[in-house]
Amino acid sequence: MSDAQQAAKMVAAQRAADLIEEGMVVGLGSGSTATLFIKVLGEKVKSGLKIRAIASSAASETLARELNIPITDFDADPVIDLTVDGADEVAPGLALIKGGGGALLREKIVASASKQFFIVADKSKIVERLGKFPLPVEVIPMAAPLVSRQLQDLALIPTIRHHADGSLYITDEGNLILDCASGPELIADPELLAAEIRAMVGVVEHGLFLGMADLALIADTTGVEEHRP
Ligand code: A5P
Repeated sequence: MSDAQQAAKMVAAQRAADLIEEGMVVGLGSGSTATLFIKVLGEKVKSGLKIRAIASSAASETLARELNIPITDFDADPVIDLTVDGADEVAPGLALIKGGGGALLREKIVASASKQFFIVADKSKIVERLGKFPLPVEVIPMAAPLVSRQLQDLALIPTIRHHADGSLYITDEGNLILDCASGPELIADPELLAAEIRAMVGVVEHGLFLGMADLALIADTTGVEEHRP
């Protein structure tokens, strides 16, 4: 990642942190931009801001605890006021691909329990059509070969995700991720594809977040643009 990209992520993260108000229940996203947001939020908590947070991944929860951000759960706080998360692609209408970091299931749970769902990203994430970034699909391990064939029938090219050291990538919930490359047309109809993937037995969740985001804070080194659906 270039220095400019890192700086842009920080600008977006800071803008989002400025929107957090006293007493809010805050959803914490995952990935590098959400991590910057959590760090800025940690500074605000250190300075006296009172909030409670629910994290969308084990990594984000660990970081939040290290920063003394109070962690709550859906028993105590079934409604999140505002979730701030990153995205891998942001298309018109704020249609998103998420899950590059593997946390798509918890991210979707947290986003769906949120009154407001804001995206923080640098400008490189803006696309005209989703699908250049391979779509992550979380599957029950036993079903992976079956789901993989069905995804190929939809003209996707699934690959089981591995870590850089060659070991299998296992999600926080013990599942596998199939990263699905699209053909040259990319994803022509995200709603249809989402419904088709969701109908496959053994699929736990997919990385298409459609009609969920309320605002995207898209930054470059010159400032932040606000994108709405
Ligand atoms: C995590 O599973 C993802 O959805 C991330 O939010 C997404 O990959 C964006 O990550 P970066 O902020 O690191 O680009």
